[in-house]
Amino acid sequence: MTKTAAIIGGGVIGGGWAARFLLNGWDVQIFDPDPEAQRKIGEVLNNARRSMPGLSDVALPTAGQLRFCDSLSDAVVGVDWIQESVPERLEVKQKVYQKLQEYCPEDAIIGSSTSGFKPSELQAGASRPEQVLVTHPFNPVYLMPLVEIVPTANNSPTLVARAKDTLKSIGMFPLHVRKEIDAHIADRFLEAVWREALWLVKDGVATTEEIDQAIRMGFGIRWAQMGLFDTYRVAGGEAGMKHFMEQFGPALQWPWTKLMDVPEFTDELASLIADQSDAQSGHLSIRDMERLRDDNLVSIMRALKSRNFASGMVLNAHDAKLSDSAGMVRHMDDITDLSMPIITVRRAVPVDWLDYNGHMTESRYLQAFADATDRLMEIVGCDMNYIATGGSFFTAETHIRHIDETHLGSVIEINTRVLMAQGKKMHLWHEMYAGESLLATGEHMLVHVSLKTRRPAPFSPQIDANLRLICEAHSDLKIPNGMGRYVGQPR
Ligand SMILES: NC(=O)c1ccc[n+]([C@@H]2O[C@H](COP(=O)([O-])OP(=O)(O)OC[C@H]3O[C@@H](n4cnc5c(N)ncnc54)[C@H](O)[C@@H]3O)[C@@H](O)[C@H]2O)c1
Repeated sequence: MTKTAAIIGGGVIGGGWAARFLLNGWDVQIFDPDPEAQRKIGEVLNNARRSMPGLSDVALPTAGQLRFCDSLSDAVVGVDWIQESVPERLEVKQKVYQKLQEYCPEDAIIGSSTSGFKPSELQAGASRPEQVLVTHPFNPVYLMPLVEIVPTANNSPTLVARAKDTLKSIGMFPLHVRKEIDAHIADRFLEAVWREALWLVKDGVATTEEIDQAIRMGFGIRWAQMGLFDTYRVAGGEAGMKHFMEQFGPALQWPWTKLMDVPEFTDELASLIADQSDAQSGHLSIRDMERLRDDNLVSIMRALKSRNFASGMVLNAHDAKLSDSAGMVRHMDDITDLSMPIITVRRAVPVDWLDYNGHMTESRYLQAFADATDRLMEIVGCDMNYIATGGSFFTAETHIRHIDETHLGSVIEINTRVLMAQGKKMHLWHEMYAGESLLATGEHMLVHVSLKTRRPAPFSPQIDANLRLICEAHSDLKIPNGMGRYVGQPR
């Protein structure tokens, strides 16, 4: 059954949560008294619809229904999850809990997006404190996996486990914060960096742009994949972390940083920073910058997916769940009608698949068709276990025809037919569609090989039997238009 989330406060963060829940198939009910709320959330949703499907190598589920509510009570009746993202003022948040707990289910989880308040402070304003905990996300919520989950002893372990499961089910990485403190883990850390940046600008050591370059060109890239401690461990060399600590520990006594000292936040400092920031990026609109940020984030995380590391590992785990729940065929037993082409790929086109012409670049067609071939191989029994025994397929020949343009975010589906499978050869035909439109075809000849000799070798009896079954069933289909064409042949 479709689950429902209530989003209370639909600003930057509430809008991001709405997008994350909606695009993962949840229905969403929003309450925000701002008359501009629908327009603002619409902008966030447009950004999310453009970028978020591209994080995944599997199509996202059908999006849920979005409903704007006129009252808080209307928004929370019968929901499974409530995400509070009202402004960062304790008395406002506490008032919201008192009101919503009059109407919401007693077993609904109430997560707060608060950047700084401790969960015990939030619970102090609630009639059922056990329902309330901190679930602190990062902007843009629809792309960033991290959510800090901060409970208190009032929250049962069952509720905390349920909260983590829910967050994982929408593709997030819940990080359990063991002790409640102001600003949790990440914002405490970011505050330290921010403080130092303010000093550097105030003292005229660096401009806002130079500080951003110091991050972008250096430690920012390292942090995205290994974080802080693993990066320093590697820096310690063979002698390891202890050596690193001994080497750099004394530096903490030097006046490298101003540490807890905070520069006075005067109008002069605010203007200095604002002017430098205008000079740095004032030529771009905020919408342009959001898209730039989103495209970069998607591209970086997709790179980490191929390494199955850090945020890439979270995305891969989410893809596996999406693939299972979308009912994609993985085994012969999953095929319901053998006589029909098999759907081997269903996914959205991500931003890093585009070229300078503003559509999908040609190498990605081959990638998509190769993914379709890999899935067909898995279905007939040539999976990773089989490959480990020394048998596999090599591609001998490929012919791709580009029929129509393929655009960012389009959900493409590849239907695969086995045209011939005999002895050592497998002849495949892939058709790529967006809805009813045929976008491309891929014709491929593969040879079964021994990975020991690197020479052609017969299929295993199991693969042979499965391929025969599919091939015979597919032989009743019409010969595909374009099969066997050579390059340049008139249509
Ligand atoms: N901006 C960030 O980068 C960021 C990151 C993580 C967490 N947060 C936290 O998320 C929360 C929201 O921050 P934001 O940046 O989205 O703020 P925001 O000002 O963009 O949005 C707050 C929204 O809440 C609405 N609102 C005000 N009172 C309300 C009420 N009583 N009921 C329902 N809606 C109400 C406002 O109209 C506004 O649209 C804060 O607690 C903040 O600390 C912010």
